Amino acid sequence: MNCLEDLVREVILCKKCDLWSMGTRAVPGVGPANSPIMIVGEAPGANEEEAGRPFVGRGGKLLRNTLTKFGIKNPYITNVVKHRPPKNRKPKKEEITMCSEFLEYEINAVNPRVILALGRTAIEYFGIMSRLSEANGKVFVVKGRKVIACYHPAAVLRNINLTDEFNRAIEQAKIALTV
Ligand code: URA
Repeated sequence: MNCLEDLVREVILCKKCDLWSMGTRAVPGVGPANSPIMIVGEAPGANEEEAGRPFVGRGGKLLRNTLTKFGIKNPYITNVVKHRPPKNRKPKKEEITMCSEFLEYEINAVNPRVILALGRTAIEYFGIMSRLSEANGKVFVVKGRKVIACYHPAAVLRNINLTDEFNRAIEQAKIALTV
């Protein structure tokens, strides 16, 4: 692989774990190759699998509207795991490990100043083991890069009381981009 286009091809062809055989298509990351901010979710859902693009469902709409509200433009958006797990179950450890080659490639290629990690799977990927209720909105430095923990938009859709916390984390991402 020597560019993000090669990565898209490799993600689409990937058969390293069994997830490829359970769904219709892979969902590579999207966005500018030099974006200062990368958003990392868990795994594609049904809408994303159908569209072949990350965060296109209701959660994606909430995410994009909130990013716009805080003036965050043109993020690179991706997931820890690039295929949809059956019935939207959490990705297994070995699936995350096998897929990590792609996310690591994306992080190195895009080289974002800030990563916004959405939900437990994404924050744990970056080694953040505290509860989201504690970690949300905090900046962690992981391998020299700022990683901000944030509730997953799906959690906010399930519990509207998390809206302020979700907004606060995204505002922190905006602040981290400017300092
Ligand atoms: N949830 C995620 O974590 N990622 C998506 O792309 C869509 C829903």
